[in-house]
Amino acid sequence: MTPFVKAFFDEATNTVSYLVREPEGRACAIIDSVLDFDHASGRTDTASADTIVDFVNAEGLKVEWILESHVHADHLSAAPYLQEKLGGKIGIGKNITVVQDTFGKVFNEGTEFQRDGSQFDALFSEGDSFHIGQMRGDVLHTPGHTPACLTYVIGDAAFVGDTLFMPDFGTARCDFPGGSSEALYKSIQKILALPDETRIFVGHDYKAPGRDEYAWETTVGEQKALNVHIGQGKSIEEFVKMRDARDATLGMPRLILPSLQVNMRAGQMPPADEKGDVFLKLPVNKL
Ligand SMILES: [Fe+2]
Repeated sequence: MTPFVKAFFDEATNTVSYLVREPEGRACAIIDSVLDFDHASGRTDTASADTIVDFVNAEGLKVEWILESHVHADHLSAAPYLQEKLGGKIGIGKNITVVQDTFGKVFNEGTEFQRDGSQFDALFSEGDSFHIGQMRGDVLHTPGHTPACLTYVIGDAAFVGDTLFMPDFGTARCDFPGGSSEALYKSIQKILALPDETRIFVGHDYKAPGRDEYAWETTVGEQKALNVHIGQGKSIEEFVKMRDARDATLGMPRLILPSLQVNMRAGQMPPADEKGDVFLKLPVNKL
């Protein structure tokens, strides 16, 4: 089955959100949405999410799922906003509980912050499946970048989140708490075991040396042949050495502190204070 896939690229965070729709019919899912956030002013904006809302409404689609590939550290999720506007269930990986536990501590969240994934409508494990209209989606647990990362395989399309990037850019970093370059290597082998013609849709693009256009669609066959970090049968030892050395040079993403606090709550802001004001924390010397 070949689902229709529409990409929405957010240049501010280099994130690609996807709308995947059954080939015949109106059911669709939205994967990895973005709530715009201006760090300097602390203001949110729904311009990016509204582009998706407008598309869904113009095409007369029915949103059944709002999926997250993982707890993103570089942008806020617009899942609750999209759910309010369009409906659908919010899904993420079952290991979200591990991420909630880690960052519940980092942000010193009280006992009112549940670490059982109950903020989400569905928690997926390896081998789970779900439906978008008549179309079936299958879940691969692909940890490494984070412990909760999933790949959603829908027909001939795999939404790989932050595991593989475009072949000329390579792979995702593995140095966030709970990350593991060894785990990422093994997860990527699972993705590369899909048929060569499987379309791969990546979660971010940053261009690459010698490429001036953003790109986000490739195939399993292309990744196997050309991925600069893992292609041509690179060994786990070679990969881990390269990945860990590279990660040691990377700074934290600009929006990591607001993103984690919001995304671990399924895109909800922390509870408002008695006056109705909402605050995000800025832990000092914690990350
Ligand atoms: Fe990520």
